[in-house]
Amino acid sequence: MKQFGQRYDAYQSFLLGCKTFWLNDLYAQVKGETSEKLGRDTPVSVDDIAASLKDSTVYKYYAWMERHLQKMKYSGRYGIIPSHEPYRAELEAWLDQPVPEGLLSLDAELDLPAYFTEIDVHQHPGGTCGDSLAGIVYDRGARSMWPAASKDLSLHERFDTVVKGLCDPSRIVDLGCGFGKSARGIYQDFPEAAVTGIDISAPCLKLAARIAVEDDAGNIAYRQARAERTGLETEGYDLVTSTMLLHEMPPNAVRETITESFRLLEKGGHAIHLDYLAGEDAFDRFIHYGHGKRNNEPYMEPLDKMDLPGALREAGFENIEITPFEEAPNALSADTPRWRLPWVVVAARKPNY
Ligand SMILES: C[S@@+](CC[C@H](N)C(=O)[O-])C[C@H]1O[C@@H](n2cnc3c(N)ncnc32)[C@H](O)[C@@H]1O
Repeated sequence: MKQFGQRYDAYQSFLLGCKTFWLNDLYAQVKGETSEKLGRDTPVSVDDIAASLKDSTVYKYYAWMERHLQKMKYSGRYGIIPSHEPYRAELEAWLDQPVPEGLLSLDAELDLPAYFTEIDVHQHPGGTCGDSLAGIVYDRGARSMWPAASKDLSLHERFDTVVKGLCDPSRIVDLGCGFGKSARGIYQDFPEAAVTGIDISAPCLKLAARIAVEDDAGNIAYRQARAERTGLETEGYDLVTSTMLLHEMPPNAVRETITESFRLLEKGGHAIHLDYLAGEDAFDRFIHYGHGKRNNEPYMEPLDKMDLPGALREAGFENIEITPFEEAPNALSADTPRWRLPWVVVAARKPNY
């Protein structure tokens, strides 16, 4: 990873400090103000919360910081994108080095979904597909997404521990693997399994392949394809995973991805997704839907509102379970009100008959 010097480090540390203030102090103040106005125990709707905060100064600061800290992280004076620009030729040459046969399969003709390319997802200009350095930029950005998440086991190790409690897979597909953060955890945590990582982003997959070469990993293959139609073998796998993919798709694409996962799995195989569902609480939903709007993630709210268990059942899955996921130590403790994404594990099984 490139070092950009003290100014970059100071700027990014300042943003992370602001983000920590935002997710602890400002969030707690917004929540406190809502409870004061609406009462703690009265059942309320998302619209009631929105109306109660309409003229709130603290909520305006909260919303401004949520949007602009992320924007500054990518695009500010010492943001991730301008800081990489002087090294473009060097980084592109590094990404384009040959990799062992079978590790990386790109598809220059792939029809990239407009629902994804038309937005700067996470406020990353051009998204994960829009530039040859998008994977490197995304990797850098992901490291400062959640200030609390780096203290203990990583999020992906935690997810793999959940997976290990549900199955003992030998052929795994990881949908929407990005620059390999999720697939890498899987190929390292399941060294006996053959893992295929699928993503639409060539720049992410090229980075993922370079990381796999550096890991000397022999059990991973990356393919550029859509999760909705992977082109992989029918009933060729015993586990399909995704982490943080479903909320980046509109409901129709989520349904197609579920149907595709069902096709890929052998009988008795597992589909296990890590994503975000806000649950019943109106304040949690208001905050989550606002995050989707402010961070350019327009399908967060539709995913939360769609009938995901129904879609899984309709595709043929059974044993459908949605459980809260603790992404960092004590993240689910009610004692400290702090902003967090409402992580859940969505697990389902293809019938054994
Ligand atoms: C938030 S990232 C998560 C990456 C990785 N799973 C992780 O945990 O770090 C979502 C990824 O899904 C990919 N993606 C979005 N729509 C997709 C689709 N229809 N098919 C395959 N990948 C898709 C994006 O390119 C991006 O890399």
